[in-house]
Amino acid sequence: MTHLANERFLSDSLAGLTQSPKQLPCKYFYDQRGSQLFDQICETEDYYLTRTETAIMQQYAGEMGECLGEGVMLVEFGSGSSIKTRYLLDHLIEPVAYVPLDISHEHLLASADQISHDYPNLEVLPLCADFTKPFSMPNPKRRPSHDAVYFPGSTIGNFRPSQAKQLLASIAHMCGEQGGLLIGVDLQKDRDVLERAYNDDQGVTAEFNLNLLHRMQKELGATVDVNSFEHHAFYNSDQGRIEIYLRSRIDQAIQLDGQIVQLEAGELIHTEYSHKYTIDGFAQMAKEAGWTIRRWWTDDKDYFAVIHLVVL
Ligand code: AVI
Repeated sequence: MTHLANERFLSDSLAGLTQSPKQLPCKYFYDQRGSQLFDQICETEDYYLTRTETAIMQQYAGEMGECLGEGVMLVEFGSGSSIKTRYLLDHLIEPVAYVPLDISHEHLLASADQISHDYPNLEVLPLCADFTKPFSMPNPKRRPSHDAVYFPGSTIGNFRPSQAKQLLASIAHMCGEQGGLLIGVDLQKDRDVLERAYNDDQGVTAEFNLNLLHRMQKELGATVDVNSFEHHAFYNSDQGRIEIYLRSRIDQAIQLDGQIVQLEAGELIHTEYSHKYTIDGFAQMAKEAGWTIRRWWTDDKDYFAVIHLVVL
């Protein structure tokens, strides 16, 4: 981590832990260990999201390619090496360029190299950027007929609805007229299925959550007894979201940068929300951000949807 990123992690952690209720931002889940744990979560039987979305892509990528249209410049938010991306790239019609966008430089270049190697006729223009901040688009050699964003994984669910709407509005602005968006969205469903996905049998999600405290120890020199915290996740059906917390098992204190943060037994530190949408609810939010739904594809159980939207 760079010095600046470390400072950021420290100031965000201090700010979050001195707030009431206490919180830590979920973006800090993803150091090397956290990213490995996330990959493992995606492989568990209980976490149906990745498997289901991949199957939808496999089955309908041909129709999605047609919907996205000829001559597109496709920008992917997040890593660009997954099987999902490849199903889509296999079915785009005369794409002008593919722009994988990621905040991690290393990850980005490795996956862009692989894609360039496997798709020699496709112009691949990796862009290291944070998609929640403004960035400039690269200039491809040929002029695209329009731009489209591919945003898989239901990562949109980790934003609060007001932030999600803002992000959708900024994507609409970036794509401009004729712009398109293909987005993976996890749908509302039975509490049991949802709660199992965030409390997997093997305890990988618990490890992933607790890794935040390990990071604070390692990178910020925090004094914290990680074993006296536990993972706590449940579905809040009124808000349509999974809520994830670290729960203190005992009365204790965390020491961070000379400050002491007291916790009572049972006290929670909020770490993540994962919002689940209905198609109508998502359509409404997207409409307020300048998008209209053209089509969507789902699995037989209606667990997950891949939605195609166009700028109004
Ligand atoms: C990345 N994101 C879509 C995951 C989710 O399902 O909200 C993150 C995650 N948190 C716990 N398990 C998975």
